[in-house]
Amino acid sequence: MKYGFFDDGAREYVITRPDTPAPWANYLGSPEYGALISNNAGGYSFAKSGANGRLLRYVFNNFDQPGRYMYIRDNESKDFWSASWQPVGKSLDEYRSECRHGTAYTRMLADYAGIHSEALYYVPLNKSYEVWNLTVRNDSGKARKLTVTGYAEFTNNSNYEQDQVNLQYSLFIGRTYFDKNRVVQQVHGNLADIEKDKPVDNKIVTERFLGLAGNPVSSYCGDKEEFLGRYHTYANPAGVERGDLGNGLSYNENSCGAVSTVIELQPGEEKSIAFIVGMKYSDEAEKIIAGYDDVRKTCEAELSELKEWWHGKFENFQVKTPSAEFNTMINTWNAYNCFMTFIWSRAASFIYCGLRNGYGYRDTVQDIQGVIHLAPEMAVEKIRFMLSAQVDNGGGLPLVKFTHNAGHEDTPDDASYVKETGHPAYRADDALWLFPTVFKYVSETGNLAFIDEVIPFANKDSGTVYEHLKRAINFSMERLGPHGLPAGLYADWNDCLRLGKNGESSFVAFQYYYAMTVIKHFAEYKKDSEYIAFIDRKQAEFGKLLNDLCWNEDRFIRGFTEAGETIGKRDDPEANMWLNPQSWSVISGFASKEQAEKALGSVRKQLNTEYGAVLMDPPYHAHAFEGALAVIYNAGVKENSGIFSQSQGWIILAEALSGHGNAAFTYFLENAPSAQNDKAEVRVLEPYCYGQFTEGKASPHFGRSHVHWLTGTASTVMVGCVEGILGMRPDFGGLRIAPSVPSDWKEFSMEKTFRGKKLKISVENPNGKESGFTEFYVNGEKLSDNYVPESKLTATTEIRLIM
Ligand code: GLC
Repeated sequence: MKYGFFDDGAREYVITRPDTPAPWANYLGSPEYGALISNNAGGYSFAKSGANGRLLRYVFNNFDQPGRYMYIRDNESKDFWSASWQPVGKSLDEYRSECRHGTAYTRMLADYAGIHSEALYYVPLNKSYEVWNLTVRNDSGKARKLTVTGYAEFTNNSNYEQDQVNLQYSLFIGRTYFDKNRVVQQVHGNLADIEKDKPVDNKIVTERFLGLAGNPVSSYCGDKEEFLGRYHTYANPAGVERGDLGNGLSYNENSCGAVSTVIELQPGEEKSIAFIVGMKYSDEAEKIIAGYDDVRKTCEAELSELKEWWHGKFENFQVKTPSAEFNTMINTWNAYNCFMTFIWSRAASFIYCGLRNGYGYRDTVQDIQGVIHLAPEMAVEKIRFMLSAQVDNGGGLPLVKFTHNAGHEDTPDDASYVKETGHPAYRADDALWLFPTVFKYVSETGNLAFIDEVIPFANKDSGTVYEHLKRAINFSMERLGPHGLPAGLYADWNDCLRLGKNGESSFVAFQYYYAMTVIKHFAEYKKDSEYIAFIDRKQAEFGKLLNDLCWNEDRFIRGFTEAGETIGKRDDPEANMWLNPQSWSVISGFASKEQAEKALGSVRKQLNTEYGAVLMDPPYHAHAFEGALAVIYNAGVKENSGIFSQSQGWIILAEALSGHGNAAFTYFLENAPSAQNDKAEVRVLEPYCYGQFTEGKASPHFGRSHVHWLTGTASTVMVGCVEGILGMRPDFGGLRIAPSVPSDWKEFSMEKTFRGKKLKISVENPNGKESGFTEFYVNGEKLSDNYVPESKLTATTEIRLIM
């Protein structure tokens, strides 16, 4: 079953049936002002922080309410509906709707009772307020008189928990007033006459507003209870029913911003207005609203600006392949998803309720990888930031606070850090993610000077990027377990594996092995031959150990427990086969050809399903060791044998690096949201963004996906596709092009911005190969290697590869 389609030309996903199996969401805004909106206008907004800057309320685990509602009432028939299908929810036999989620804007088109409406929601670029632009057109044959009402449900306190939980306090600090064209809500309005720089108990007056531009206000309401009316719901607010909001205000209890306006339309005539919402003092709100006098023109210009910004980023890498599902993900939706995880980390969605006030170290360092090829200048800013959250012992801070103050932070070694963040100890993998990320950035840009840039450590001291990387190596080297593999510490990538100081992780071992390979590139640049010799020796010793300890006939084991028991052996009753050690044995460059073939074959045989490979198998149930936290989840779910989508990116990459284009693409397709567009009743989640996991074959809901948008999947799959399948593999000196594609792709092309130059790459595959090349041309010159050295790049570089 499907509920919509991809409009690739417009870079929009178009929902044609509003009764989607879950709220299908989009993001608006930036960290200055963030907002989520569903296809039925549900969602919330916050200024700067989801935890402490919440201004529009959303009730989680509920019916996608409240939202940014715009009601339309026919004053003759007294019938009313909403510009989004919900909350009024007219019969779909009479109400036609289309929701178009685009890049940081959402448009909702509706036709009902001869009135066409178009609601455009967005946060203007670099602004910190939101606009709900509504255009109504009279498509009926007679003159119409409409009352249009905008409704925003303010939180009573900017702190999400205070608003939702501490009601004995937060219900008694708010009030609203009306001024010209806006309802203004004051939180702690009683402090209005106290100077703002003299907070009382850290509190000052905060103001939020909902204002109207483009038409005069006919009535207003600032009190939620009064707006809805007793025992009414968002579907039939009393004020909307009456066509007059009654001009009531709030003092205590729940505030809202609601204003109505009357619009008269001759047949064929249309009118555009805008409701504007923000957290600003009223004088500033007045200026903002005044900027929308010419509503249509201003909103159109702002929308174009948004599109230009976003599409401009995407233009840096575009593909045309025979697979529409692949194209739409790489060109728009996976790219957009990568920016969302890059920007929002795991802070705010309909599942992440906005409370998390920081970046997970590993999450963000991985998220960066998804945007390096599209926006290296944004990536490097965040790399700097994450390096400044590395402790001087080389480990990463498990949680980097949004208020991070480099050089002055406590660490997991301090009780204060543990108390504040809830993270009791270092994790084994955090800083090791820096190796692929920093390497990819320097390789993409050729910005070798970055290696010498001095960046502070989180707690004290500073060092060059090279020094930061060396310390990350040391961190692992100094924390080896009894067998000599990296200790599992509080967790490795898998939050549900508590291997401890005396347990050991093969996944981290592969990361560590890979890190040693990567640091040698940096050491070569630094002409640090002594260090290279040292790492060479260490890596050889370590490789031997890794092989002896972890290879088990046709698979790599997952590690050792604190008690020295092996996890992930062939003959274990549960969890005898794990996905990540197999993919990472290849990605790290460790596995021999024979091991790679066997390990990847075992994954296909035991772990793969029609929706992707499960994280491990069989699920934990009766044989979980102490520390195998996955057992707390239902079998087939999350880390307990769910299809953990993030890991799908690594298996795509591993297969591609092994030259298995068909297998790599199969893994892509199995879990690609776009490929499940007509299976919405199974997938449930949006068909245009990734989710954290899909329920595995052990679940009765096999194929259902969860935890939309904010998942490391966005970046791992992007890397798996761009670096793996499409074979874009830059290094310090240039770009290797080594596609690993389905054998039935006869040809495809790519356009890539690379170090300020435009590359136009065409690939021909006349003999149905999966990888490899026979001929390679750069600007017509035949080269013997499929590698473009930087010196051969011209403003527009034409590249032709024949497989
Ligand atoms: C979640 C966490 C991530 C972790 C993964 C596997 O996605 O955000 O940090 O690596 O689960 O446990």
